[in-house]
Amino acid sequence: MKTKKGNKWESSQVNIISHCTLKTLEAAARAIRDGHLVVSPTETVYGLGADASNENAVRRIYEVKGRPLDHPVIVHVGDLSQIDHWISDIPEYAVTLAREFWPGSMTLVLPRSKDAKDFITGGQESVGIRIPAHPLALQLLKEFHKQGGLGVAAPSANRFGEVSPTTSIAAEEEIGKYLSNNDLILDGGPSVVGIESTVIDCRAERPRILRPGAITREMIEEATGLQVIDSDSKVRVSGALENHYAPRARVVVGEEVIQGAGLIALSAIETPKGMTRLASPSSIDEYARTFYSALREGDHKGLTEIVVVPPNGDGLAIAIRDRIEKARTKS
Ligand code: TXA
Ligand code: MG
Repeated sequence: MKTKKGNKWESSQVNIISHCTLKTLEAAARAIRDGHLVVSPTETVYGLGADASNENAVRRIYEVKGRPLDHPVIVHVGDLSQIDHWISDIPEYAVTLAREFWPGSMTLVLPRSKDAKDFITGGQESVGIRIPAHPLALQLLKEFHKQGGLGVAAPSANRFGEVSPTTSIAAEEEIGKYLSNNDLILDGGPSVVGIESTVIDCRAERPRILRPGAITREMIEEATGLQVIDSDSKVRVSGALENHYAPRARVVVGEEVIQGAGLIALSAIETPKGMTRLASPSSIDEYARTFYSALREGDHKGLTEIVVVPPNGDGLAIAIRDRIEKARTKS
């Protein structure tokens, strides 16, 4: 049961704080410094943040998510000058990508420094770094830095294998009951991109996309003048596991008409009689922005099947088809 007091949503476990002020963000940064967890909006999806230098705090992320310990987490910083602490080397093309697309929905995987411990990298010799673009996330990271913090480890704020949250309510629904009284959930409105960042491995002579996102292959090639390496990576990327990001409903891909089922498709496609329309985006951007919330809506409505008609084309459509594949129920 939740009640609203002032601008705080109070539940039995954790507060959702709306209308975040600078004071709120200072307090949230302090909470992270003190070893607590803070759910923060980002432009991609909501993240579950902990002090990346604090092993116990990062362990709690894994407990709250129910995630295996050998999966790496992304370190978030507020400024390019702060990445040196976490990495031991950076190729020229990665500097170009950082300058071009940060703050933004891109994660760079680089050789780790001695400070990027196994509890961050899942034991791998690389570390994932991102500067998010959401103003509230950036301000939180800046406050955290002012207080002596070096980076915030943050995976998506969902239980392992489930759909990433794109609102504070969805984050609360996913993990609220696993959080403690001193943890916080910050509300910054719906995430504008709606799917997770592009993860780019920058350890070879050319970039390799480990997870497609809003920073597309074309954008990377244009910025660096290099051809992206085709991905056959064995690097552990939890989002690359089959059936990741899956809702409870059975997800069917194609144009089959299943009576009583939900439908996610571009607005040009009409809703067959008897189906529940969950999203009808009129652009590829809108498709990405609404896809996860539409899957969630299908579960809320208790639908047993959701039919998804994927968008065609390159760019962001590739990332959307990737997430559709991960949500698809294998037969
Ligand atoms: O948009 C995003 O990236 C969101 C927001 C909160 O920043 N975060 C996110 O984190 O999606 P997560 O943990 O749910 O997914 C991060 C992905 C995982 O697939 C992880 O395996 C990969 O990035 N990753 C992180 N560090 C890595 C590394 N050192 N090597 C390879 N993959 C890495
Ligand atoms: Mg995730």
